[in-house]
Amino acid sequence: MTHAAITGIGAYLPERRLTNADLERLVDTTDEWITTRTGIRERRLAAEGEATSDLAARAGLAALGDASLKPADIDLVIVGTSSPDKIFPSTACLAAAKMGASCAAVDTMAACSSFVYALHSATCAIESGRAKRVLAIGADALTRHVDFTDRATCVLFGDGAGAVVLEESSEPGVLGIDLGADGTRPDILEIPVGGSAAPATCERIEQGLHYVKMNGQEVFKFAVRVIPQTTRKALLASHNDVDDLKWLIPHQANQRILDTVADRLGLPHDRVYSGISTTGNTSAASIPLAVNDLYTCGRLMYGDLLALVGFGAGLTWGAAIVRWTKEVR
Ligand code: ACO
Repeated sequence: MTHAAITGIGAYLPERRLTNADLERLVDTTDEWITTRTGIRERRLAAEGEATSDLAARAGLAALGDASLKPADIDLVIVGTSSPDKIFPSTACLAAAKMGASCAAVDTMAACSSFVYALHSATCAIESGRAKRVLAIGADALTRHVDFTDRATCVLFGDGAGAVVLEESSEPGVLGIDLGADGTRPDILEIPVGGSAAPATCERIEQGLHYVKMNGQEVFKFAVRVIPQTTRKALLASHNDVDDLKWLIPHQANQRILDTVADRLGLPHDRVYSGISTTGNTSAASIPLAVNDLYTCGRLMYGDLLALVGFGAGLTWGAAIVRWTKEVR
């Protein structure tokens, strides 16, 4: 059987930093509130004129470089995002052009689970023999959709992108994936206006309905329930156990979510990746950014077993069990 394995990884964070102290000057909040409730100390903001496809292209080129490949070597570009440049063309199409690639390109939209969905599509394309090399990117500029007068949401998000190259391999890399979706409660986390259900009108924009709306406590309850569930299902599908994991790499939404799922899975907290303090919630980008961070810091060894776990609006969720098949950096 043909397997899919990660052969390259890259990331990009915009330069501009927004600290909790900066936010104290914008809204009625404190560094102490943000840090204790979320673990976030600062986040990055895309520059004026910098779109999600720019972030995606930067991360994609870095991943291609890491795999010693050129854009022309890629058969398919998949961008997981919930902050596309435009409704159409797709962000993948625009990012591919910015990288100098002219292969097939498509977006996956599953909010903060988008990267795991992209990884699933990439793995299926390779395992079925329809593609040999796929670039799977998670990229978001959600700060463009956040109301910077709403203290409940504006402290949470940051912008960024991460990417992996997947290639066909005799050695199994992506071992098992579990995905799920429940669209019966879209109101828990949504951008209500701007799509076909409710196009943007002056009146709706005046009401701020084009911004992220979130029921934080419902998201919290959903996350701490679904992360252990989907992780266990993906582990079962890959014939592994929680104890086999070197790293649990959940979507980086909130430190308290990370701590709670570590306890629920019976994992030591130091085996659950946390990078949220410096990036905030970068949505689809957070998982590949995390993997890239571990890799570039030399904390990923050949053969390590990883669980990449996303959850987000939809509601959506997904876990991928990955055997790390690159040598330590
Ligand atoms: N600064 C100061 N006070 C604040 C802030 C802020 N930034 N935001 C809210 N508050 C206040 C509220 O107004 C409220 O005040 P009140 O008691 O006078 O009414 C009080 O703090 C408590 O508000 P809650 O919403 O109950 O706060 P909670 O303890 O639930 O924490 C949080 C909010 C951090 C969002 C929490 O619900 C959470 O972690 N939820 C998970 C959601 C999440 O991580 N979302 C990320 C995006 S979704 C995703 O990535 C899938």
